[in-house]
Amino acid sequence: MNETRPRAGVTALGAYAPSKVVTNFDLEKIMDTSDEWITTRTGIKRRHVAADEEFTSDLAFRAVENLVARHGDDALTGVDMVIVATNTPDALFPATAALVQEKFRLRAGAFDLLAACPGWLYAVGIGKSLVESGQCKRVLAIGAEALTKIVDWNDRATAVLFGDGGGAAIVEAVPEPYGVKGVVLGADGAGADHLHKRSVGACLPSGARLSDSLYMNGREVYKFAVRVMNTATLEAVEKAGLTVDDISLFVPHQANLRIIEAARERLSLPKERVVVTVDEYGNNSTASIPLALANALDAGRIAVGDNLLLVSFGAGLTWASAVLTWGPA
Ligand code: ACO
Repeated sequence: MNETRPRAGVTALGAYAPSKVVTNFDLEKIMDTSDEWITTRTGIKRRHVAADEEFTSDLAFRAVENLVARHGDDALTGVDMVIVATNTPDALFPATAALVQEKFRLRAGAFDLLAACPGWLYAVGIGKSLVESGQCKRVLAIGAEALTKIVDWNDRATAVLFGDGGGAAIVEAVPEPYGVKGVVLGADGAGADHLHKRSVGACLPSGARLSDSLYMNGREVYKFAVRVMNTATLEAVEKAGLTVDDISLFVPHQANLRIIEAARERLSLPKERVVVTVDEYGNNSTASIPLALANALDAGRIAVGDNLLLVSFGAGLTWASAVLTWGPA
C-alpha cells in the first residue's frame, strides 16, 4: 500500500431480504423434494423470495435504505461511485447501478459488475482500489440478487438452493489498523461449463421470459467450492500478514452448510467463529456476505478491531477473499 494514502475499509452496512418466505415444506407441495433432503444436503430451511414486481434494483434500493436507517441521513454524503454486483440486473443496460445513483440523487459514477456470487467482494476490492488510488472518496458497493426469477422451478436440483436479497456497504478511507486487507480476486474459466445461465431476460422487469434456465453441475461446483474456500482463505490471511488464529469471525458465502462445514474443518475453526445464515436465506449470491455480516453485527458478534475473513465462490468459476478489520465506528 502507498504509505501516503490511508487504507480503505467498510464504514457502513445495510441489508435487505424480501418479506416473502418460502419454506422447504412449501417446496414439498410444488415439486418432488422433501425438507429432509434439502436440510441434510444443504442446511437450507427457508429462502426469501422477491415479489413478482420486485426486481434487483428494488432489492438494492432497500439495502441502501437500510444502510441509511442504520447510519443516519448523512450516510450517503460524498458517495462518488456506485457499484452493483449482480447476476440478475434489471437490464443488460443501463446498469442497475445507474438506477441506484438516480434514486438516491448521488453525484457519482455507476457501473454493474458480474463475477457471480463473489461479485460483492469484487466490488469491495475494486472500491478499495478506487479509494486508495485517490480516484474516489466514497464507494457504495452493493450486492443485489433476484435469483429466484431465473431459477427453473421444475428443476428440483437447483430450485431449492436459491433466494433473493440485497446488501450495501460504504468503502472509504479508515485509520490504521482498520480496513480491507489481503484482497484475493480469482477466476478459472476452465470451469465455465459447470454453472451457467446462457440467455438473459428472465429477470428483466419487461417480463421477457427466455427458456434457457440456470444449469449447475452440483458435484463439480461442490468440489471446487470446498477446495477454493480453503485456499482463498489462506491466501488472503497470508497477504494480510496474519494467520488463521488472528481471524475472529469467518464470514463465508452462504451456498451450502456442508461446504461451509468442510471449509471450517479444513481451517480448524471452532463453530462459534463461523457465521451461518444459509438456513434462513438460501443462496442469494452477491447479497449473501453483506447480509451475513449485517446479521452478525445485529447479533453482537462483531467488535471494533475484529479481523473478519470474507470468502466466496461462484460461476466462472470465480472466487474472492479478503480480511476486513472492523472499525473504526
Ligand atoms: N430433492 C430431492 N432429491 C433431489 C433433489 C431435491 N431438491 N435434488 C436432487 N435430488 C436427487 C438427485 O436426483 C439424485 O437422485 P439419484 O441418486 O436418484 O439420481 C440425488 O438426489 C443425489 O443428487 P446429487 O446431485 O448427487 O446430490 P448432492 O449430494 O451432490 O447434492 C447439491 C446436490 C446440494 C446441489 C450439491 O452438489 C451442492 O451443494 N453443490 C454446490 C452447489 C453450489 O454451491 N452452488 C452455488 C454456486 S454459487 C453461484 O454462482 C450461483
